[in-house]
This record gives sequence, structure tokens and C-alpha cells, in this order.
Amino acid sequence: MNKRIAALTLTITIVVIACRKDDPIIVPQEHTPALPAQPYDYVSASAFPSSFLYPPLSFINSEPQSNPTTDWGATLGRVLFYDTQLSANNAVSCASCHKQQNGFSDPARFSRGFAGGHTDRNSMAILNTRFSFRFFWDRRANGLEEQVMMPVMNAVEMGTDTVFLPAKLSAISYYPGLFEHAFGTTEISNTRIARALAQFVRSINSWNSKYDEGLQNNFTNFTPEENDGRTFFMSGQFNCNHCHTTSNFYTTQALNNGLESVVIDSGYALVTGDPADIGKFKVPTLRNIGVTGPYMHDGRFATLEDVVEHYNSGIQGNPNLDDRLTVEAITGGTPKQYNMTAYQKAALVAFLKTLTDEGLMADPKYSDPFVH
Ligand code: HEC
Ligand code: HEC
Repeated sequence: MNKRIAALTLTITIVVIACRKDDPIIVPQEHTPALPAQPYDYVSASAFPSSFLYPPLSFINSEPQSNPTTDWGATLGRVLFYDTQLSANNAVSCASCHKQQNGFSDPARFSRGFAGGHTDRNSMAILNTRFSFRFFWDRRANGLEEQVMMPVMNAVEMGTDTVFLPAKLSAISYYPGLFEHAFGTTEISNTRIARALAQFVRSINSWNSKYDEGLQNNFTNFTPEENDGRTFFMSGQFNCNHCHTTSNFYTTQALNNGLESVVIDSGYALVTGDPADIGKFKVPTLRNIGVTGPYMHDGRFATLEDVVEHYNSGIQGNPNLDDRLTVEAITGGTPKQYNMTAYQKAALVAFLKTLTDEGLMADPKYSDPFVH
């Protein structure tokens, strides 16, 4: 066979492979996602082990019946999540501010939006969202399907007028096929965009850290320092686990942890209008906290050492300071001073770092499909 025929045969083979019905939607051009022929398994990412999913977590699932996660739906969501074309000037994607290697948060204190402006709060780590019903630091979004379109439209973040978004995506070669795989027809609507994004976001689940291994082996895999840190975290003395509860280390309420005496950002009160909610914020999950800094709604603390020092000596009194952080155990009381030893502080930090799930940060099914 001469070279030409060989090349021709190769071309025909590629065309034939490319035409198989279940084939990946691979178009060889710049800014095209490379996807596996068979979608990754996103559904099983929600199969939390029983060591994690005990009550009340086993009863909490905010996934709406109208939008069950499918592997193709989440695949489309992954492409949308990483596609800068969701922003007005094709400059940023969700992943610009929610980076996989940082537990889907942003190492910058405030994130840079499509036109160079900055967000007024710190980007949040996205994981284990099925256990939350309300999203954002001030809990203003009611469900993920509602939340995911808010950054797209946000004037600082992505600046897109969603009236034109379906038509824009319809004109991009890879989208009609992906919507067909996900929803049965090539129709592109904002409802479908939101559903696919929500499916992908809800598939980002973390239950495979050193701590989870420890749950299986009575923490024999922990160093003595990590084990002491675990005791301090769970002890009534430092009562971290009274607010960062369950194996998701979170609470569904908004609370005030004494960051400032004169509140700058009203937080949850912006949503409820209730003065009793001024300065209250979502209690985020501490899963992967070792890689999601800086910390708090305004990213004021660069390190976990700074965070622990806040609870140790920096809690500020204010009318809504949570009763778990006051001497008298009443809301707005005298701020506690924990007087921790250097060892206790270091052990708490060591324990917090056992919540990191390295596999999640390296898992290709959550990675950028446009990098290839
Ligand atoms: C320019 C940066 C930026 C972009 C782009 C961005 N986000 Fe965010 N995201 C943030 C910030 C900042 C917050 C916290 C904002 C607040 O609480 O007011 C946040 C919060 C969230 C939350 C809430 C998490 C929780 O636990 O409550 C989710 C979910 C989320 N973003 C998903 C997305 C998705 C999906 C996209 C793309 C459609 C996106 N983000 C685009 C910066 C960004
Ligand atoms: C009264 C409830 C409460 C207690 C007790 C509490 N926290 Fe928090 N924690 C919060 C709230 C609320 C936030 C978010 C505050 C904000 O950003 O305005 C938070 C935030 C954090 C963060 C930063 C999360 C992020 O993603 O930025 C860390 C880390 C943390 N807490 C660790 C601890 C440790 C360690 C202890 C024990 C020493 C502890 N917390 C005790 C309520 C509490």
C-alpha cells in the first residue's frame, strides 16, 4: 500500500468512527471540548458511603425530582461550567472563580469578573451541595437550579443577558449535540442550561479524605497531633462541631461568628430584612478547607492558623454574636476567649487538613474539557 492510500484509509476510518451514533462530539478546532466517548460516571459520585450518610444527612437531599442527575446531563454541565462563552465577552467561565485544584474556590480574596471588576465577597468552595437548600454567603439563592444562572447574569461576574444566551449557544458547533444527549432534543433553553449546570455542580461530591479513611479504622491512620486536633474540634471546650456539624461539617442556618463588632456586610439580613440577621452568614462546609483559602465571606484570613487565632482571641462582640461563642451562652453576650496553647492551635489546623480530598482535585470528570 503506498502512502497516499494508507492516508486515505486512515481518513475514511476516522470519518467512520466519527459517524458512529454514540461517538464523542469531537470537532477538531480550537475551543472545542474533548469528551470521552462514553460519559464519565457522575451518578455514582452521589453515592455517599454510609459512614458519611448517617442522620440527619441521610434525610437531606435538595436535588429536585424535576432534575435528576444523568451522566450526559452532567457532562453538558461540565462543558458549560468551563466555557468562557457563557460570559458577555467570552472572558471568564465559572471555573475562573471556582478552580478544581482549590476545591472549586478561588485563591484570590476577591474574584475578577469578565470586565475586570471584582466580586465583593470571597468565592465559595463548591462541593456537597445536595445538603444545602440555599446558596451564597447570604443564602439568597433558593436552590441550585436558580443559583447557577445568577453568576451568568451578574453584572460583575459574567455579564450575560440570558435572553440571548440560548441563541448564542445554538450557534456553537458542539452544543446542539450535547443538549440532545442530555435532554433528548437539540433545543437549547435557559431552563436546560440551568438544569445541566446544576447537575454538574451537584455531582461535585467529596467523601474521600484522610478523615473518611479514619472513620473506617478508628483513626489509626491519624498522627497523634491530628487525633488531638479532632478531639479539640469535637470537644465541648472549643465546640467547633456545634456549628460545623455532621460529617459535612456545616449547618443549614446562617450564623454570626464574631468577625466584627460593627458589621460591614449585612449578610443574611439583606435577604430577610430582619435586624436579628445582620452579620449572619452561611456556615460553609469545612471539607477541603486546607485548599480553599482565603477564608470567611470576605476572605479576610489567609491561613487556617489565622482562622483558629480568630476563634482563640479575636471574636468580636455584636448584638447577633452566636450564643455558642459567648461566655454567658446568650446571643450578643461577651465574646469567649479560648486561651488555646500553641499545641492546641497547631493540632486544630492539622485536623482541618485531614478533610482534604486529593482525588476530587485530580478527578478528570471534573476537569477542564477545553484543555487538550
Ligand atoms: C467572577 C467570579 C465568579 C464566577 C465567574 C462564578 N462565580 Fe460562583 N461564586 C463567586 C462568588 C464571589 C460567590 C459568593 C458570592 C456571594 O455569596 O455573594 C460564589 C458562589 C457560588 C455558589 C454558592 C455555593 C454555596 O455553597 O452557597 C455556587 C454554587 C456557585 N458560585 C456556582 C457558580 C457557577 C455554576 C458559575 C458559572 C455559571 C459561577 N459560580 C461563576 C464567584 C464567581
Ligand atoms: C457559632 C457557630 C460557629 C462556631 C462555634 C465555629 N464556627 Fe467556624 N464558622 C461559622 C460561620 C458562621 C462561618 C462563616 C462566617 C463568615 O464568613 O462570615 C465560619 C467559618 C469558618 C471557617 C472558614 C470557612 C470558609 O470556607 O471560609 C473555618 C475554617 C472555621 N469556621 C473553622 C472553625 C473552627 C476551627 C472552630 C472551632 C474553634 C469553629 N469554626 C467554630 C460558625 C461557627
